Amino acid sequence: MCGIVAYVGSKEASPILLHGLKRLEYRGYDSAGIAVLNDQVNVLKKKGKVDELKKLTQKLKPTGTLGIGHTRWATHGAPSDVNAHPHTSTDGKIALVHNGIFENCDTLRSALQKLGHTFRSETDTEVLAHLIQEYKSRYNVPLEESVRLALEKVVGAYAIVVMDQDEPNKLIAARKASPLVIGLGKNEFYVASDATPLVEHTREVVYLQDEEIAVLEPGQKLSIKTFRNEPQKPAIVELDMEIEELEKGGFPHFMLKEIHQQPDTIADCMRGRLNAKEVWTRLGGMETYRERMMNANRLIITGCGTSWHAGLIGEYLIEDLARIPVEVEYASELRYRNPVINSGDVVIALSQSGETADTLAALQHVKEKGALIYGIVNAVGSSIARITDAGSYIHAGPEIGVASTKAFTAQLTLLSLMAITLGKANNTLHPEYYKELVKELGEIPNKVRNILAKDETIKQIAASIKDASNALYLGRGYNFPVALEGALKLKEISYIHAEGYPAAEMKHGPIALIDENMPVIVLATNLSAYDKIVSNVQEVKARKGMVISVVTEGDKRIKQLSDYTIEIPRTIEPLTPLLSVIPLQLLSYHVAVMRDCNVDQPRNLAKSVTVE
Ligand code: M6R
Repeated sequence: MCGIVAYVGSKEASPILLHGLKRLEYRGYDSAGIAVLNDQVNVLKKKGKVDELKKLTQKLKPTGTLGIGHTRWATHGAPSDVNAHPHTSTDGKIALVHNGIFENCDTLRSALQKLGHTFRSETDTEVLAHLIQEYKSRYNVPLEESVRLALEKVVGAYAIVVMDQDEPNKLIAARKASPLVIGLGKNEFYVASDATPLVEHTREVVYLQDEEIAVLEPGQKLSIKTFRNEPQKPAIVELDMEIEELEKGGFPHFMLKEIHQQPDTIADCMRGRLNAKEVWTRLGGMETYRERMMNANRLIITGCGTSWHAGLIGEYLIEDLARIPVEVEYASELRYRNPVINSGDVVIALSQSGETADTLAALQHVKEKGALIYGIVNAVGSSIARITDAGSYIHAGPEIGVASTKAFTAQLTLLSLMAITLGKANNTLHPEYYKELVKELGEIPNKVRNILAKDETIKQIAASIKDASNALYLGRGYNFPVALEGALKLKEISYIHAEGYPAAEMKHGPIALIDENMPVIVLATNLSAYDKIVSNVQEVKARKGMVISVVTEGDKRIKQLSDYTIEIPRTIEPLTPLLSVIPLQLLSYHVAVMRDCNVDQPRNLAKSVTVE
């Protein structure tokens, strides 16, 4: 949610900033701006995508070797040129970019207006620029100190980068509950809200910690202090990311590339954790805490959006295979409904980005209650990864498309590994069944490949629903959360209203919606409730609904009843979601393309939601 990039060194700053913003556009894209220093602070900003800003810079050609940039996802104030970042102080000398929210901005704005500061935008961010100017003129201290004093007054979550015309060789970066990474070059520094814009410039990075301020001056060592002015030793780490991972690799969209990467990302998630030949599974991150998990009062799985859907499947898996009680809760609800949680509980947090504010807030809350926190996260070194007591990375690589696809299947892979490993340790799995699960999980990448080969057929089926206004997704058992995920994928990228339901619930209400204009996507792969699903399909057909079914290869009965059928390879029931979600991802993708929607950057959404 919003992207920050900054540079100070000897190169021209604006091309670096623009390129970096392009890389970060997936985080927010309603307006963008840069400020470059050349005697004076020169601010250029524009409503719309980074390309609009690029056109402006081509015309105005800003020069300077120090600059800051931002791509925005609006919170305070509508997307507009004036609300775009960077924001400046009343005297125009201080400029800053900001991710996050200042909760007490209205009080601060009124106080600053009384002191004579004039505001140009409706944003919370602008308040900080004026506040820094206020402290600078009041105390005549270096920029880092006026930033520190100003931050003492703001309440909220933020990552900021600040520049000042009066200190032309210096950038100040600071964070509290919003990520910021500093890239170290030769006599130069880069800053960004995640590592994606840094990888082409440097491999050496420092992840700024909460409540830290960094001073970046070429020719000087990186200096970091806490908000209480205690010096910190920068922990330099090597970036483990390739530029190719950030490109589309010949696919028209990141989403399609990421869907097709899944055989590899699922295999990557299992690497070193499963051996089908020798029949074993292990999760390094879980080893120390396995007993505590097995003896927990209950496991509470939490997350948001697609991660929450993965959590629901995790509940089915862990209860089914390891017989440990599990609850799944939206992180936003877990945080604010005053739940009963204590040190006997284990909370499993799922997050692709590792920066989702709702999930982070829930984890801070359960930590205070003494629960053990286990993270299942994609982004290495992210805030959620750091707040957890233990955890496992899903190793899906950078996911750029806003619609989560490969992260979802990697989350399911990890949860399957967890359930199988706990089941073995708990003696709740018959050794033969354990063996079957391990072998079958090892086969999943090939089976996913098989489904991806049906892309053209799925595209043709997509044409049949591209003009629909609504769609219903039905599934039972393990396929119920997949139905929720299928519906979410369709609505977020194609803007068709879609709902997911447990198939049996249809007759309790949604059946009233069914007529010839209602496509119903039925996940009909379960062997355990097969006859019941046949009845559900008949009920839809009796009301003239159009049925698209996802069935197991060789199925005849449901195929006969359906208007369109997508066959997927046979697998054992607990692993079905890893396969049945793939056609739903492709279906949504093709529908969205046919409707001319921006697949990778759907309206109103951002990749990482860092506001509560
Ligand atoms: O990064 P996270 O997994 O914590 O993100 C949670 C949701 O914001 C995310 O899954 C969202 O629902 C996606 N757009 C779904 O495709």
